[in-house]
Amino acid sequence: MLRADAYQLMADMVKNRNLRKHALAVEAIMGALCRELRQRHPEAPESEFDAEEWRIVGLLHDADYELVEKDPDRHTLVTEERLQAVGAPQRIIDGVKAHHEGIKPSRDTWLEKAVYAADELSGLIIAVALVRPDKKLASVTVDSVLKKFPEKAFAAGARREQILACERELDIPLEEFVDLSLKAMQGIAGELGL
Ligand SMILES: [Fe+2]
Repeated sequence: MLRADAYQLMADMVKNRNLRKHALAVEAIMGALCRELRQRHPEAPESEFDAEEWRIVGLLHDADYELVEKDPDRHTLVTEERLQAVGAPQRIIDGVKAHHEGIKPSRDTWLEKAVYAADELSGLIIAVALVRPDKKLASVTVDSVLKKFPEKAFAAGARREQILACERELDIPLEEFVDLSLKAMQGIAGELGL
């Protein structure tokens, strides 16, 4: 599956502009995480670190969010059907399902662990950008994100425990995870409109 086809599928399924931006943000973080984890784990098979696959999982992880609105227990399953219909690799399908514990409770690969943590951090970073005076990602710093991290009432939807999976499951300290993710998102600030 090519990134261009994945983007088209996402755009067909997702109408909400903010949800599209969320997809792009998680895609960007996944690309950076793939590079980082590949460097950190030269012992792991190279096939685990196909950057295009990682990016596609980020892009599509929430693709059916609007379609299953009335039946959230089916979240990721509609995307799975669409992906199966176009013959997408099982690794991509498993990655999409892995960000949703209710559907896939275990995370078995680096890719699956990565999307789980990246999903929630992207939301926190966007929330921090929106409270900057200029509302720009360019004026967000790692420190400003870390400062908001313990404030439970701030961006309460961005589950901190899930973000901390970076330390538990990816062995990347929170500060480094924020740094890498922030830079990835700043790299597509224009597309994100932030
Ligand atoms: Fe998400």
